[in-house]
Amino acid sequence: MAKPALLLTRKFPEAVEARATRDYAARLNADDALWAGDGAELVRRADGAAGILCAAGDRLDAATIAALPDSVKIIATFSVGTDHIDLKAAAARGILVANTPDVLSVATAEIAMLLILMAARRAGEAERMVRAKAWEGWAPTQLIGVTLEKKRLGILGMGRIGRALAEMARGFGMEIHYRNRSRLEPALEQGAAFHEDDDSFLAASDFLSMHIPGGDATRRWLNTARIARLPKGAIVVNTGRGTTVDDDALIAALKSGYLRAAGLDVYDGEPRVHEGYFGLENVALLPHLGSATVETRDAMGFRALDNLDAVLLRGELPPHRVS
Ligand code: DGY
Repeated sequence: MAKPALLLTRKFPEAVEARATRDYAARLNADDALWAGDGAELVRRADGAAGILCAAGDRLDAATIAALPDSVKIIATFSVGTDHIDLKAAAARGILVANTPDVLSVATAEIAMLLILMAARRAGEAERMVRAKAWEGWAPTQLIGVTLEKKRLGILGMGRIGRALAEMARGFGMEIHYRNRSRLEPALEQGAAFHEDDDSFLAASDFLSMHIPGGDATRRWLNTARIARLPKGAIVVNTGRGTTVDDDALIAALKSGYLRAAGLDVYDGEPRVHEGYFGLENVALLPHLGSATVETRDAMGFRALDNLDAVLLRGELPPHRVS
């Protein structure tokens, strides 16, 4: 029997592409050209494909999905986030959508921890100084940051990534507070303090780490009013989605000194980064590295292929179905 055709919108890890090529008539994107940002090009290339393996940053909006050929049965995204896919439009076309939960939790929590440390200990600023050959030697008052020990870490969104971060942060002596749709069971909560409203949660966050999905419901969640509820001198870190932060509000608070520092791995409209961040020393900027480890990216690819295999090779529902 002929192998089903599978469109890969990006260059994926070698082991993932090897498996895709073994099991499918795989259409690879060998040079990682960014054609999937253009809906029309994606539709053209999907002609005759049974599945699409896509990634964050691809454009699978309503118009693109409406124009996909009937041959497409499943969109498997190489991500846990699905805000780049119009789920309603996919459901209307009867196209399954599946993602890659769990396997990137620790890697993403590591980047949140890294940003917390970078922001608290001024690591970006310090590294820039050394690289600029501007370091004149150790000094008692040079580049003084703040410690994490005994500070309160507020985790917004206590899903798998938030819980992985909580576990790491406890090792640094931090006290964990969280805000979530619902309270977790004690076994998952591990002593973290649940907050039923934003105000008490924000007031208890010396550090705020954001782990909420993108989309209309969370757009600019962190705005001027909520920033004002944080303690003066708080630190904000975002490894979820850039759309959840009002950049102008965050920049103003970093400039005025109301917030001590911030660390960002995700941006509204990325790869574009708000110009206002570039002139600030007290913000650490990473290029969406959350899941970027060898182990995690392979695992994400295999999970995406597991989803595709279920539908296209066995006629089953994908194990990580989103819609
Ligand atoms: C995800 O999985 O949603 C990440 O942001 C992509 O690495």
